[in-house]
Amino acid sequence: MERGNVDIEDVKKEMPSKWSCLHSQERFRPKYPDSGVVKYVFRNFNTNKHEKVLDVGCGAGRHLRFLAREGFDAYGIDFSESGIGHAKKQLECEGLNAVCQVATVDKIPYDDNYFDGCLAIGSIYYCTADAIKKAADEIFRVLKPGGKALVVVRSTEDYRFKGGREVEHHTIIGEETDKSKCAASEHGMSLYFFDRKELEELFNKFSKITIDRVIATHENEQYEDNDFFVSLEK
Ligand SMILES: C[S@@+](CC[C@H](N)C(=O)[O-])C[C@H]1O[C@@H](n2cnc3c(N)ncnc32)[C@H](O)[C@@H]1O
Repeated sequence: MERGNVDIEDVKKEMPSKWSCLHSQERFRPKYPDSGVVKYVFRNFNTNKHEKVLDVGCGAGRHLRFLAREGFDAYGIDFSESGIGHAKKQLECEGLNAVCQVATVDKIPYDDNYFDGCLAIGSIYYCTADAIKKAADEIFRVLKPGGKALVVVRSTEDYRFKGGREVEHHTIIGEETDKSKCAASEHGMSLYFFDRKELEELFNKFSKITIDRVIATHENEQYEDNDFFVSLEK
């Protein structure tokens, strides 16, 4: 489907290779876990029980290493071979264990009710609406009853969406060329943004859903990252 001068099907096909290209550069392989994720994990998961936690779209594995270090049975999937390669290498360097596999978020290669917890931190919004729906259903499927998940996505209040050109519902193609802005790394990628109502519908199979907003402003509040932290319980 062509909108303006953008062929969305081409954009979708190129996403894994664009991510592999980013993961091959050290600055796109963050070392430290996100502080919000750290808080969530300590409040919601139990290290003493060797809980199994899956990181959906684990990238180069910063949260996998954190989980493994804290005594969880850590698992990660990502469609970027380079991301998974770096995640494995760094786990090995630090003497940590986690199971890492190349796979897409909309087809999680694990049995039903397998995990105590899931994280999907800044990953599913690189998918189309259709794949996002499948990813939400997959997270539900692989969680045990009572299992918990944290999903971090961008909201329609985020500066990227506000300044972007909508090519499909809530979808823009990254157009930032100013390399000083982090959005430049997403140039040419398909990006999906959520509103609260849509999130409630997307995750309506879960028995509990809590949606909070995390805002970070930049350059004297000139522009803002506006994320949703979605906590779920099956
Ligand atoms: C912004 S990075 C976040 C990585 C990691 N969650 C973190 O917090 O460091 C987004 C990740 O999602 C992965 N990703 C995007 N779309 C995906 C898909 N459809 N299936 C699997 N992984 C995907 C990318 O390869 C990338 O590693």
